[in-house]
Amino acid sequence: MQPPEGCRVVALMNQKGGVGKTTTAVNLGAALARTGLRTLLIDLDPQAHATLHLGVDTRTLDGSVYDALLDSSIDPSSLVHRVAENLFVLPAVTDLAAAETELATVPDRQQRLTATIRRLAPAYDAILIDCPPSLGLLTVNALAAAHEVLVPMQAHFLALQGVSKLLETVTAISTSINPRLRVLGVVLCMHDANTTHTQEVVADLDAFFEQHRGTKAPWADARVFRPPVRRNIKLAECPSFGQTVFDYAPGAAGATDYLALAEAIVRRWRASCALSENPAPEVRVIVGQASPVVTEPSD
Ligand SMILES: Nc1ncnc2c1ncn2[C@@H]1O[C@H](COP(=O)(O)OP(=O)(O)OP(=O)(O)O)[C@@H](O)[C@H]1O
Ligand SMILES: [Mg+2]
Repeated sequence: MQPPEGCRVVALMNQKGGVGKTTTAVNLGAALARTGLRTLLIDLDPQAHATLHLGVDTRTLDGSVYDALLDSSIDPSSLVHRVAENLFVLPAVTDLAAAETELATVPDRQQRLTATIRRLAPAYDAILIDCPPSLGLLTVNALAAAHEVLVPMQAHFLALQGVSKLLETVTAISTSINPRLRVLGVVLCMHDANTTHTQEVVADLDAFFEQHRGTKAPWADARVFRPPVRRNIKLAECPSFGQTVFDYAPGAAGATDYLALAEAIVRRWRASCALSENPAPEVRVIVGQASPVVTEPSD
């Protein structure tokens, strides 16, 4: 089963813990929403951090992504919460941890999320999936459902080793259940550009992606997004208030960096839209209007 057309589905994935996946999923999602894209964040991590970060009270939920994955008779849109203009979340609860074992014997266990997303996608321009820090069945479901993988990471040597493991997994999925899976790029999180070590790691990553340009590798068009997301205490504080950085501290460096990342990603989507047979929604900036307007491609 192929991922859905029309809406961009991006898995935020890195099996290493604490690298900035959830912070990026939430604040990039909020930034995309602010640029006018209807954006859904799917919390696929049993820790439910993205859900909590967006201020959704997991104790009062009627259902979560767990129910959507396990019971296809449930309409997944009934589980989605609106958290701000253009920003929606399909929440997680800690029960999701059981899904890995409960799905283990189900025949289409790797594509339960693809089926869920196919039903949700027509209502959105972008869907971001916050993956858990592992390469288990939940992450496989995210890779099966996604068009693109975005890799949040911190620039240090051990992180580079983790990236090669991650790319092996992407290759395995792209040569089996999801041939059109691509790596969108790397987001540098909690970045400190002033150390020589950091600069060397970033140069290595740039060189790695350059080497693969024009190849058939899923990361042939990947890049290290600039600017990086700087270490910024406001980004660490805002989850405890159930707010994105744009609500908690709109003037903070974290807000500036995630808005710049969203703009860079939308530019990439627009560029690939011009080349692709399955274009993403077009983002049209109308002069004099603060937010870009999203339109469906005409062909
Ligand atoms: N740019 C940043 N500046 C300061 N703190 C940050 C930044 N990005 C993330 N953090 C903090 O670092 C910690 C880990 O970030 P986060 O939860 O986003 O990582 P994760 O990869 O989702 O973790 P896990 O693997 O457990 O899901 C959190 O406390 C978060 O608030
Ligand atoms: Mg997380």
